[in-house]
Amino acid sequence: MSWNERPIGVFDSGVGGLTVLEKLRHALPCEHFIFIGDNAHSPYGEKTKEQLLDYAKNICQYFQSRQVKMIVLACNTTSANVLEELRILFKDIPIIGVIDATIKYLPASKLHRVLLLATQATVTSKKYDTFIHQAYPSLQLISHAPHSFVPLIESGQYRLVIIEDIKKELKGYISQVDGVILGCTHYPIIQDQIQQVMGDLIYISSSDSILWDIQAYLKEKKWLAFKGKGRIEIYTTGKASAFYRASSGFFHCLEEDIHELRI
Ligand code: DGL
Repeated sequence: MSWNERPIGVFDSGVGGLTVLEKLRHALPCEHFIFIGDNAHSPYGEKTKEQLLDYAKNICQYFQSRQVKMIVLACNTTSANVLEELRILFKDIPIIGVIDATIKYLPASKLHRVLLLATQATVTSKKYDTFIHQAYPSLQLISHAPHSFVPLIESGQYRLVIIEDIKKELKGYISQVDGVILGCTHYPIIQDQIQQVMGDLIYISSSDSILWDIQAYLKEKKWLAFKGKGRIEIYTTGKASAFYRASSGFFHCLEEDIHELRI
């Protein structure tokens, strides 16, 4: 298989990674994507580094067996905790995480004090703090891990109004910041409701900027697919019906297109 024709592997703990896949499939319509939602181990945000590495290693081995040309960590938690380890283990496959791009393209000149919303494992890793401090020393960062958000999204409850849950998590930060980093790929799914609570601020989604890095990398390598319409394979390590219920509010695909993967 030529490099151009090889698929791109994308993964997350669950439906959150689809917010990244959504951008990728529109911008790169000829590419073949293999998406894995590791719902059997969701939420990642509460796991240890050892556990995260174990899950990610398993998924990357599967991608390797499918001859992917690139692996995208559509997940802040793994990007923050195990990206370097994965790059050492899978030297022959380029692996891209979401955090570098989020920092690189941050509209820092418009921000003074920004709130990072991310999982506990991302906050504890201090990756955002370190990178922001290096790149934008005058920008103040406050971090918060809203424990209820990922379960509310994975259970499909976000389709109802969850404003009260969001208020409970964020009330201490209202009027305290001028921007919010949605540092978990699940959070763009509830951005409208977060905005209703936090108000009209600058919102930065970690699901957005990675696209530019992926495009630039594939272009430079001359690995971009250019023939026909790309395929999308969607797998969950959990239940396909639950994955469909959680994703169908924001991602268009048929229930029968979601497959259960046992790896
Ligand atoms: N969507 C992931 C992230 O960006 C993981 C969320 C979780 O499973 O806790 O961090």
